[in-house]
Amino acid sequence: MKLAVMGAGDVGQSVARLAGEYGHTVTAIADSSSAVWDENGVDVTEALTRKSESGAVGPNDPEGVLGAEYDVLIEATPTTLGDAEPGFGHVTTALERDRDVVLANKGPVAQRYDDLAAVAADSEGAVRFEATVGGAIPAIATAEGLGPEHVTAARGVLNGTANFILSRMQAEGLAYEHVLAEAQDLGVAETDPSFDVEGTDAALKGVILANVLDGGGHTLADARIEGIKDLPANALDVAADDGMTVRLIAEATADRIRVGPRLVPENSTLAVTGTMNILQFDTQHAGQLNISGRGAGGPETASAVLADVDRLSCDTTSSVRTGSR
Ligand code: HSE
Repeated sequence: MKLAVMGAGDVGQSVARLAGEYGHTVTAIADSSSAVWDENGVDVTEALTRKSESGAVGPNDPEGVLGAEYDVLIEATPTTLGDAEPGFGHVTTALERDRDVVLANKGPVAQRYDDLAAVAADSEGAVRFEATVGGAIPAIATAEGLGPEHVTAARGVLNGTANFILSRMQAEGLAYEHVLAEAQDLGVAETDPSFDVEGTDAALKGVILANVLDGGGHTLADARIEGIKDLPANALDVAADDGMTVRLIAEATADRIRVGPRLVPENSTLAVTGTMNILQFDTQHAGQLNISGRGAGGPETASAVLADVDRLSCDTTSSVRTGSR
């Protein structure tokens, strides 16, 4: 497949670097100020080297990428709230050209799912967004596989940065600010880390899961959100005295979406450490299912993007659906 990549941050760069291993060609790549495209494929290594040396990869025309030759647009620009622009506009342009779209950007799926479904319904192109929840974990594909209407709840640790901070603070007795700086060095924190520590990022993922389970209808405004920033300094010590720990848990059920720090037993399935994520699905007929794995990072998230591209190359099933649980 020919791929155009909007967004040349950690995820976009990793998609560009790994695409060849998956048998795909990158024909265009852009960041917010510059772009390069060629219908026969761009030399991604050369383009990214130029970007890191001079801050530019080509002409000052990222919009040109949207008109380039590609089968699938990869939308990997930073997540924005509100109307989810410019990501939503990029997706719309590609769908109006009947191209498939794979999103790593959470904004359009969390904030404008119903609009996305409407645009996709008028297009020959399909939309998938595995990378928006849980990094390398096949969260969306698993929900689809279980049959979303038979899932009664989805919950888990869905922010690697917050989990890294909580687990390092408890295991090493380190201060919050110190561990946050480590997470930023590792490249797992969002561009604006307040999204991670205030619970916004986990809530966006909860909203996306709710949209998948319910066939749309939710935005961030429906979520009750509490982060880890204001957790009392002694909370982890007090929890440890009782064999417990604190994890930032996101949950989507039929009647609520919420994110907040919760006490969980230290030996519980939910007590993953470091940047690991875990996702639990409660089902009507098949009990509980747990999946865990690396929830953040360039190559990890890129592997979820490229898995979606592979799904699109086998069939053209869209992940946007309408209906209800
Ligand atoms: N910043 C996120 C996290 C990764 O720490 O989990 C992207 O969703």
